[in-house]
Amino acid sequence: MAIFARDLSVRSYRNFERYDLALDEGVTVLVGRNAQGKTNLVEALQLLTAGQSFRKPSPAELVQTGEEGCSLSLRLEGDGRVLDHELVVASARRSFRRNGKKCTASGVRGALPSVLFCPDDLDMVKRSASVRRGALDSFGMQMSERYAQLVSAYERTVEQRNNLLKERFCTRDLLAAWNESIASTGASLLVHRLALLARIRAHFVRAYASIAPHEVADMAYQPSIGDLEHAGAATSADEAARAALRLEAQERFLACLEERADEELRRGLTLSGPHRDEILLTVDGRDARHFASQGQQRSLVLAWKVAEVEVTRDILGRPPLLLLDDVMSELDAHRREAFLGFIAGEVQTVITTTNLGYFSDEILSRAKVVRVGDGDDGVEGGVARET
Ligand SMILES: Nc1ncnc2c1ncn2[C@@H]1O[C@H](COP(=O)(O)OP(=O)(O)OP(=O)(O)O)[C@@H](O)[C@H]1O
Ligand SMILES: [Mg+2]
Repeated sequence: MAIFARDLSVRSYRNFERYDLALDEGVTVLVGRNAQGKTNLVEALQLLTAGQSFRKPSPAELVQTGEEGCSLSLRLEGDGRVLDHELVVASARRSFRRNGKKCTASGVRGALPSVLFCPDDLDMVKRSASVRRGALDSFGMQMSERYAQLVSAYERTVEQRNNLLKERFCTRDLLAAWNESIASTGASLLVHRLALLARIRAHFVRAYASIAPHEVADMAYQPSIGDLEHAGAATSADEAARAALRLEAQERFLACLEERADEELRRGLTLSGPHRDEILLTVDGRDARHFASQGQQRSLVLAWKVAEVEVTRDILGRPPLLLLDDVMSELDAHRREAFLGFIAGEVQTVITTTNLGYFSDEILSRAKVVRVGDGDDGVEGGVARET
């Protein structure tokens, strides 16, 4: 059974002194001029569902200028339960609460995962590999707490090892003591990534084919430690097969660390491991980074987002909250319709726009349209219908 985000309330948050928003179970469209706070509201929803925001703000940035602290709350309902998620910033520190009890970000993660699609995502195909790894990890962290733990443990280990590599006193022997732990955490993270990517890939290929029927898109994970013989076992139900893959990755990782130790010491950087891996996207077999047109890049991102929605359904048995920030204007009519077709009616969605003209009458007739900010001047393409 689905879980829905019902009521969002923010106090002294970004440009809002206070703002309350009741969300529809289907589509809510937030319409308003530039700089009225639409993206801020999307960010609040992401913080209260994913436990983090795409803007990676410091706690102080969330607080309205001139105020001491802020609070954000979101009521979730479904499965016969009511859940209250809160984020409070006080004394420049943030803390989460779940049903009134203090918790970490992991306490609000997972109940209702969110999939965000915003203008920043549109060039993820051509940007550095860290953007694509980040997209995979942010999603994985919402799907599984184990995945989230591995991401943060691995990041910590790489940081510590890099600090050590920068020390004058660092030697190969000292490094060797660290290698076991980085290789073991890194191998586990790699297996989790391979498994998640395999799930995303199946939906991604299908979604792309329906957006662009005459092209074939694909994705592949390229480990910096080289391709693994047992990579296919990542999705196996057989624990022994997955353990064999983990071991293969760990041994390969250790060998790479050994091989590149002198270079690492010279550069003060860990040069292999999941933090250097690539997620390769292709169209008709060609590397999308170098060959994809603007339109193809948009279709690839669109297909990736659709795949995240579908994988959430596969893993949790219910859809995520879909947050579409200002992307309708970036997509042509064909891609817009294709995308909205995928999610029609079954996924709770919040869409921001400055222009209702991008939406068909069919969507507008069933959406809840909420005006954000002042007056109606500047809102193009029609009059916002408040419901
Ligand atoms: N901590 C803060 N205190 C006060 N104002 C803030 C704070 N953080 C952001 N703002 C302001 O919030 C305003 C709205 O930002 P937001 O990005 O949500 O606008 P938007 O409605 O999405 O606009 P656009 O249509 O251009 O994307 C900006 O003018 C920004 O300066
Ligand atoms: Mg915005």
